[in-house]
Amino acid sequence: MKPEELPASPAADRNKSFILEELKKRIPELTRLIEIASGTGQHAQFFAENCPQWEIQTSDRELESMGLKKRVAGAGLENLLTPIEVDVTEELPEGLKTFDFLYAANCMHIMPWSAAPHFFEKVQRLLVPGGQAFLYGPFEFDDITTAPSNLDFSASLKLRDPDMGLRHFNQVSDEAAKNSLRFQERVSMPANNFILTFKKDG
Ligand SMILES: C[S@@+](CC[C@H](N)C(=O)[O-])C[C@H]1O[C@@H](n2cnc3c(N)ncnc32)[C@H](O)[C@@H]1O
Repeated sequence: MKPEELPASPAADRNKSFILEELKKRIPELTRLIEIASGTGQHAQFFAENCPQWEIQTSDRELESMGLKKRVAGAGLENLLTPIEVDVTEELPEGLKTFDFLYAANCMHIMPWSAAPHFFEKVQRLLVPGGQAFLYGPFEFDDITTAPSNLDFSASLKLRDPDMGLRHFNQVSDEAAKNSLRFQERVSMPANNFILTFKKDG
């Protein structure tokens, strides 16, 4: 399959360079990183192309329908590893190593909130002590008025499935803290998105 025929998200192409710019400020040149809920794999491919010393392990609960497996194979990048199946609500694959960094984009509002404890438990298990997690996407905060476009987006998700929808930062950080993941930083991103960073207790 030609690269242009792979499933792709226009939003992922628009936001990938802004995300990478912020990650590069916080992630050293040589490292190992896992992505949860990679989707189409556009972010991971872009990161791997631009940071050849980052070894990137992509994953999703489903590797075919969004073309993740084909995209990674077609990219032919040594530092972009074959995707693995990780459903955060299930057991992790046997023998999976730990990572210095973890990245997950646009998944908290897609997963039902009942998956959040499992998500953070897996984040905690996948990180080395002192490792950091970066969560990208739209979130709600007490001190920021949620953009009308995000409110509409959340309402449309809830129409599809009442368990979907934007999450409030307090919910997210509370759940993370239960798994030894301390909230560190909020980075405002274009299009009313954010990066939330968490550090696993060392
Ligand atoms: C909106 S897509 C985001 C894809 C990509 N990260 C991006 O930003 O373009 C949400 C992703 O979450 C994944 N997902 C949903 N529930 C999951 C679960 N329980 N475990 C792992 N991945 C899950 C879906 O398969 C999908 O790839």
